[in-house]
Order: sequence, then C-alpha cells, then structure tokens
Amino acid sequence: MSGYACKDCEDSGWLDAPDGNAVVPCHCREQLVAGRRSRALSGVIPRRYQGASVDRPPISLMPTAQVDLVRAYIRDLEKQLDQGRGLWFFGDVGTGKTTLAMLVSQTAIEARRSVAIYSLPRLLAEIRGTFEDDADGSYVDLLDRLAEIDLLQIDDLGAEKTSDWVLEQLYSIINSRYEAQRSIIITTNLERDQLAEQIGERTVSRLEEICELCPLFGTDQRRFEAVDMRDKDQPPAPDLRLA
Ligand SMILES: Nc1ncnc2c1ncn2[C@@H]1O[C@H](COP(=O)(O)OP(=O)(O)OP(=O)(O)O)[C@@H](O)[C@H]1O
Ligand SMILES: [Mg+2]
Repeated sequence: MSGYACKDCEDSGWLDAPDGNAVVPCHCREQLVAGRRSRALSGVIPRRYQGASVDRPPISLMPTAQVDLVRAYIRDLEKQLDQGRGLWFFGDVGTGKTTLAMLVSQTAIEARRSVAIYSLPRLLAEIRGTFEDDADGSYVDLLDRLAEIDLLQIDDLGAEKTSDWVLEQLYSIINSRYEAQRSIIITTNLERDQLAEQIGERTVSRLEEICELCPLFGTDQRRFEAVDMRDKDQPPAPDLRLA
C-alpha cells in the first residue's frame, strides 16, 4: 500500500504536465485544498467517541430502526454528502445522539471528506471570537471555511440561549450551507418547535428540509457503566485528523 490518499500525485495536488515543463492540478486537488482549509476548523473525533461501530456496543444496543437509518446513510455516504443531505438526531439526554453523529463524521473523515465538528456553544464562541480586536481570522473567512467543507456536525443545538446577533450569524452559516447543498448533522435535546424558539424559525426550517429526522428516546445511559467503543482486537484508533 502506498500510504497516499492519491497515488497519482502522492498527495501533492500537482502532476507533471505532458510537456514536462510545468505542472497541472491533479484531479484530487480540489478535495486536497478543502481538506487543508478544514484543518483550521475543529475536525477531530473526541476520544470518548473514537472507534464507534454499528457492530459493537453501545451502537449495537441502540434501537434497530435508528441504527439502520445511520447504517443506510453511511452506506451511501458519498452520495448523501454530494447531495447535501444530513441527519437530525433529537431526543432524551444520554441516548446516543452524539455517538451516532460522531460515527457518521468518523466515517466521512476516513473517506477523506472534509469535516468540522462543533458543539453549538463552541461554534458561537468561535463566531464571537472573530469579532475581537486581536482575532486570528475574520468572520467572513470562518464563514467561507464552514461553507465549503463536506460535512458540518453541530452538537447540542439549542443548549444555550444567545443573542439575536449571534443567532443571525448561525443562520448565515446554515443558510450558506443550505444554498450550497452541503451536509449538516445536528444533535439536540429539544423538540422542533422548542428548537425554533431557541435558534430561530428560518434556521430550523432549512435544517428540516435537508436533514432526515432520527429520534432517540429512553433512559439516560450515562447512569450505567460506560462502554468502551474501541475494538479490543484492533490497535488504538489512528489519529483521524487529515494530515
Ligand atoms: N443504547 C446504549 N447502550 C449503552 N450505552 C449507551 C447507549 N446509548 C448511549 N450510550 C452511552 O451513553 C453515553 C452518552 O452517549 P451520547 O453522548 O451519545 O448521548 P447523547 O444522546 O448525545 O446525550 P446528550 O443529550 O446529553 O448530549 C456514552 O457513554 C454512550 O457510550
Ligand atoms: Mg450529545
């Protein structure tokens, strides 16, 4: 195995031109550039959720219909991402919403698609941060990067009440992805109307159109002993950051 995602250009993004005097962009270049840009975003699976699999606990213990829905999404991942289709996990605390969302993001990262993973409070903090005097990057730059990645996972939507101004920025992010037909995965404890009250009807309406609903209700599984998601027969999960 070469170890390169693209054998043709060995991940440089460039190929020698036929006349030998120049280089031309490789077919993978667009994806490579998007991957590099997304690295500045938060694209790492948190340790707790690394190595999740539909074939092992806790996911194998979750309700069959919901696991099947996620399995089907992953099976068709390339198509789902290319069409900008997403998933909307909602329901009780500690029922596996984030676990399933992380499984999808992990699968997308393994397929070398660009992914960003945020909790809503963190995303909002990042937005606010771009308006600070000593900000590393501008809001427009953050918005551009969030708009062009293949998959944006936002965890804990509606977890905090925030200002109308910040919600307007969140709307811009969701709307630009909606218009560009780029996938979004969300998790939330709120029912649809409660969520609309918290983050705005226009934002929720767009999410509703592009995401398939996946309800997860039941007992808070954090009350019980934690399941180690990693496969015991496998070496530790690799660092999935796009290198
Ligand atoms: N059906 C299940 N059986 C066993 N353990 C489970 C099950 N569902 C989730 N877990 C475990 O419960 C914990 C919480 O899971 P997770 O973070 O995915 O929940 P959540 O629905 O996102 O919760 P919250 O609403 O608080 O964000 C994790 O340690 C996970 O492994
Ligand atoms: Mg969660």
